[in-house]
Amino acid sequence: MPAGLPTQMTVRECAEAVIAAQRCHGAEPAAFLAAIEEPIAALLERNDLRGVGIPRQGNNVDWSQYLYFDGDLSFLLFEVPEGGRVQPHDHGVWELFAVYRGRMRHTVYRRTDDGSVAGYAKLAATDDRVMRAGEAAIVAPPADIHGFCALDGGAMGLTVVSGQYKPDRHYYDPEANSYVVKRAANLR
Ligand SMILES: [Fe+2]
Repeated sequence: MPAGLPTQMTVRECAEAVIAAQRCHGAEPAAFLAAIEEPIAALLERNDLRGVGIPRQGNNVDWSQYLYFDGDLSFLLFEVPEGGRVQPHDHGVWELFAVYRGRMRHTVYRRTDDGSVAGYAKLAATDDRVMRAGEAAIVAPPADIHGFCALDGGAMGLTVVSGQYKPDRHYYDPEANSYVVKRAANLR
């Protein structure tokens, strides 16, 4: 951004920052998150994101839009109804989860069983907190499972994902130590 002009992070600039960080820190989730927290926070400071994207059919949420998609990297903005809960699920690739509006309870898990028993999974929470607007968390293998719920009406989130989700997505019930497999190309 040229010096002296009002600083507003564009979606393209933010995507460029994510791509650069991925090249440098792609194998190290903590370093990767540290490198992109600032540009993501700057993007989330914009008040107009709701009108920027292209509508998308969501699976876990009612309203979602693509802010960015280049065939690999995608930025997705979505709304979760108050009290709405997205069941813990895995991805197979890293996902950045950030809050744009309201508060969300967000929990990241990793599996602690060996995966040898179909339908059985034991999860351990690695990051469990109430997140506020502007805050971000990384969901990356081996802790690539997360679930969340909205604590306020109008709560909105942003996810950033690179690569393809694995085809057999697992949806977990941590209390019952169980999971079901759902197959769909664009489950979030
Ligand atoms: Fe997800």
